[in-house]
Amino acid sequence: MDKLAGTFRDPDVPRFRWTQFEAQAQEDDGGEDVIAGLSATPKTLPARYFYDDRGSILFERITRLPEYYLTRTELSLLENRAREVAAVTGPCELLELGSGSARKTRALIDAYDNKDLPLRYLPVDVSAGILKDSSRGLIDAYPALDVWALVGTYEQALAELPPRELDNRMAVFLGSTLGNLNSSEIAGFLENVHQALPGGSYFLVGLDLQKPVDILEAAYNDSEGVTAAFNLNMLAHLNERFEGDFDLTKFEHLAFYNPEEQQIEMHLRSRADHEVRLGALDLQVPFAEDETMRTEISRKFNLPDIIETFARHGFAATQHWTDPNDWFALILFRSA
Ligand code: AVJ
Repeated sequence: MDKLAGTFRDPDVPRFRWTQFEAQAQEDDGGEDVIAGLSATPKTLPARYFYDDRGSILFERITRLPEYYLTRTELSLLENRAREVAAVTGPCELLELGSGSARKTRALIDAYDNKDLPLRYLPVDVSAGILKDSSRGLIDAYPALDVWALVGTYEQALAELPPRELDNRMAVFLGSTLGNLNSSEIAGFLENVHQALPGGSYFLVGLDLQKPVDILEAAYNDSEGVTAAFNLNMLAHLNERFEGDFDLTKFEHLAFYNPEEQQIEMHLRSRADHEVRLGALDLQVPFAEDETMRTEISRKFNLPDIIETFARHGFAATQHWTDPNDWFALILFRSA
């Protein structure tokens, strides 16, 4: 897809258009966040650097690991509950934040399709390629579906949504991606979503819940080492993107539950005293032996607490569903 800002159609793909927002401001692509994170004590790296092509493939493999219960638990919740969601919302267009896996999206669209409701899907993602591929598949599968893809960040898309065409709109935020945000980031995000949705709109959210620590830690320390490869791949991505010389053999994967913060943390631990250079950022970074840098937080929610947080931001929970183990929750909010 084009890099030009604007709204476009592809003559080869019917019922599909996309809006490309302005390219990100310099500081978002210039590695300012990498410089800030590697200069801080303790060091951190932004989780968004997990997702280059190889990182996205590794994440797909994670979602199929026996220990990684999140994706399959959420998918079965969606398959079992989407009809109830559609019954509550009635005719409703779906605005998906982060385009997600086609299987989850299809479970939702199927529910509206089976009720013969009109179908309109607005996926938001920074990757134009992912959006176009997934949209093409959906358009082939649902002859009544209209897709308007939004290529940009959540902030960009929420600030300039296309006009609503159906009676209502539901934002959809799955995969417990909310768990990657700290409390103040969650507050800012909920404010953005609330501002973008008129009163009476819906918001469907999938969240990972607190559970015994051994189950949580196993999900991020899988026996095949896929999560370790995913974590280390961030360094390969940074090497490529910023002319870096991270030696992947000098770091090891670490994931553990932090009970005070109620979150899984992923870190990379330096195996030796050494220095790393990122040429494009003109940055030289010293690492001590056993020093760790945090690459991700993945918060584990308490259902009443998070419902209360949403309520403070103008979202009332109308229904929620959990799996038989109470490991994962699907919550349907209505905007005040
Ligand atoms: C996609 C952010 C929800 O936190 O579980 C998986 C990413 N990291 N394994 C998560 C992830 C390590 C995942 N989220």
